[in-house]
Amino acid sequence: MKLWNKGFEPDKLIELFTVGNDRELDLRLARYDVEGSMAHIRMLESIGLIESSELPQLLEALEDIAKSIEKGEFTIEEGVEDVHSQVELMLTRRLGDMGKKIHSGRSRNDQVLVDLKLFMRDELKTIADRVNNLFCRLLSLSEAHKDTLMPGYTHLQVAMPSSFGLWFGAYAESLVDDMEMLAAAYKIANQNPLGSAAGYGSSFPLNRTMTTELLGFATLHYNVVAAQMSRGKSERTAAYAIASVASTLGKFAMDVCLFMCQNYGFISFPDTLTTGSSIMPHKKNPDVFEIMRAKCNRLQSVPNEISLLTTNLPLGYHRDLQLLKDIIFPATTTICTCLDMCDFMLQHIIIKENILDDERYNYLFTVEDVNRLTVSGVPFREAYKQVGMQVQRGEYVPTREVHHTHEGSIGNLCNDKIAEKMHKVLEKFGY
Ligand code: ARG
Repeated sequence: MKLWNKGFEPDKLIELFTVGNDRELDLRLARYDVEGSMAHIRMLESIGLIESSELPQLLEALEDIAKSIEKGEFTIEEGVEDVHSQVELMLTRRLGDMGKKIHSGRSRNDQVLVDLKLFMRDELKTIADRVNNLFCRLLSLSEAHKDTLMPGYTHLQVAMPSSFGLWFGAYAESLVDDMEMLAAAYKIANQNPLGSAAGYGSSFPLNRTMTTELLGFATLHYNVVAAQMSRGKSERTAAYAIASVASTLGKFAMDVCLFMCQNYGFISFPDTLTTGSSIMPHKKNPDVFEIMRAKCNRLQSVPNEISLLTTNLPLGYHRDLQLLKDIIFPATTTICTCLDMCDFMLQHIIIKENILDDERYNYLFTVEDVNRLTVSGVPFREAYKQVGMQVQRGEYVPTREVHHTHEGSIGNLCNDKIAEKMHKVLEKFGY
C-alpha cells in the first residue's frame, strides 16, 4: 500500500523500476527519519495540529522504532516504497488516526531532505575524524623520522635532499586543506530544510525555527525553493570534499608503491601486510596501496557523477534526485575505509636509514655545494657554473652536508604550526 494510494496499485514493473534499490539505501536514513519526525511532531503540537495528549504516545512509538533501528531489526516491508512510508505505516498500525496526523505540513520531499542533511552532517564529521587520525599519524611519523634523509625528485630525476620528516609532514599539511573542504561541506549540510514540504512550503503556520533548534542545525534554508534545490547541492559539495581527501590519499598511495619498489627501496612493510603472486615465488606486493589508489581515483569521479545527474534539472523535486543516494552513500564509506587502512598500514611502516650514502644519489648535493660557494662570496651564477662543470667533467665530489633552516624545510619542519592550522579548522565542526 502506498501513501499516495487512490484506490489502485501501480503496475509491478513500474514499482520495481522506480523503487530499485532505494529501500536498501534508505535503511541508512532510518534513524534520521525518526529524528526528523520527532522534531516535526513536537512542532505540530506547539501549533495545535497534534493534541498535547497525543504527543507523548507518538514520541514513545517513534522511540521504539529508533530502538529497533539501533538493534538492526528495522526493515522496509515489501510493497512499502521507502523509509518515510514505513515509519508512518508503523505509527498508524500502532496508534491509528494519531499516526495519520504526523504528515501534516510536510512531504516526503522535505523529509528525505532533512534525513540527508542529518546523514551528511554525521558522515562528514566521521570522515573528518578519520582524516584527523591519519593527520596525527603522519605528523608523528614526520617528527619521529625528521632526521632521516631521502632523495627528493623532480621529473622523477634525482633532485635535492629530502627527508621522511618532509614527506610525511607534506601529506599531513595537505590534509589540512582537505579538512577545510570538509568543513565547508559540513556548513552547507548543517541547514534545516524541514518545512519546505513538497518544495513550496505550507499554509499551516509551521515553526521552522523550532525544528531548526530541535535538530541542532546551525541555521535554516529560509527560502523553501532554495531548501528543495539544496538536494544534490549538499551532496555535490560533500563529494568535492571527499574527492579532495581522495586525491591526497591517492597520491600518497602512489608514493608508497613507488618507494616500495626495489629500485627505490626506501620503505617496506611486514610480510603479513603484503600480498603474493601465484607464479613468482619472491613477490611481496603493495596491493593495499594499489587498491587504495584505485578507490581514491574512482572517488574523484563522484562530484562529476553528481553534476551529470543534476545538470539541467529545473527547480523543484524530481525523482532523478533519488539516485543521488546510490552515488554518495558508498563514497562516504569508501573514503573512511581507505583512511583507516592507510592509518593501519602506517603503524607498521619500516623506513630505511642512510639511503643517501649510496653514490647514485651524489648529485642530490650539487645545490648544497653551489650555495656553500655562494655564501663564501662567489656570485650564485658563477658558483652554479663551477659545480656544473665539475659534474660535466665527472669530477664532482659531494660534500654531503645538508643545512636547511627556513620554515618548512627539512631542518625546520614547523610541524607545530601545521598542527595549529589543523586545530583551527577542526573548530569549525564545533569540536
Ligand atoms: N525515495 C524518494 C527520494 O529519495 C523519496 C521522495 C519521494 N517523493 C516523491 N515526490 N515521489 O527522492
